[in-house]
Amino acid sequence: MRITGKTLLFSEEAIRRRVQELAAEIDAVYGDEGLVVVGVLKGACLFMADLVRALHIPRVELDFVRLSSYGNGLRSSGEIVFSKDVETALEGRHVLVVEDIVDSGRSMAFLLASLASRKARSVRLAVLVDKRERREVAVTADFTGFVTDGGFLVGYGLDFAEQYRQLPAIYALHCEET
Ligand code: IMP
Ligand code: MG
Repeated sequence: MRITGKTLLFSEEAIRRRVQELAAEIDAVYGDEGLVVVGVLKGACLFMADLVRALHIPRVELDFVRLSSYGNGLRSSGEIVFSKDVETALEGRHVLVVEDIVDSGRSMAFLLASLASRKARSVRLAVLVDKRERREVAVTADFTGFVTDGGFLVGYGLDFAEQYRQLPAIYALHCEET
């Protein structure tokens, strides 16, 4: 695979506006009931940082998971496992998972089922980019930033081989099979 360029898909300003709107939706759902926001490392880090700063609800805790799937490359495949689990007891708590992209849905189906089995009061999903048309396993986000099937995306937390995460906007990569 050779990278030949990238095209701007969602600008810094478009992301900023959309994140503010999502935060308002989330505020309206939870009010003052208290919330554990669970970010999925590493991709969701920038989205989560901006999203939680835009919330106005008073009781927000942060925690993180990291998932790994066997098989590498542009998409996840096979079995998903935790390489880092949350450190918070979730029983009776409202949980909001924050994820960068839902693609096949495999990672998220695993994570949502696992969190729900801990008797959380609710488990909802906020996703920045939903590649809905590529779904192989049913997963529906409660809060969605953007819907696209537009190729392989990088920037604003999203990586290709650990590169591009630091970019403030989201780009579609152009690549050539080698
Ligand atoms: P899924 O299990 O197929 O839904 O894969 C979701 C995960 O694959 C996301 O959390 C991302 O880490 C990664 N992923 C899927 N599509 C992209 C992309 O376009 N750019 C960067 N990472 C992606
Ligand atoms: Mg991810």
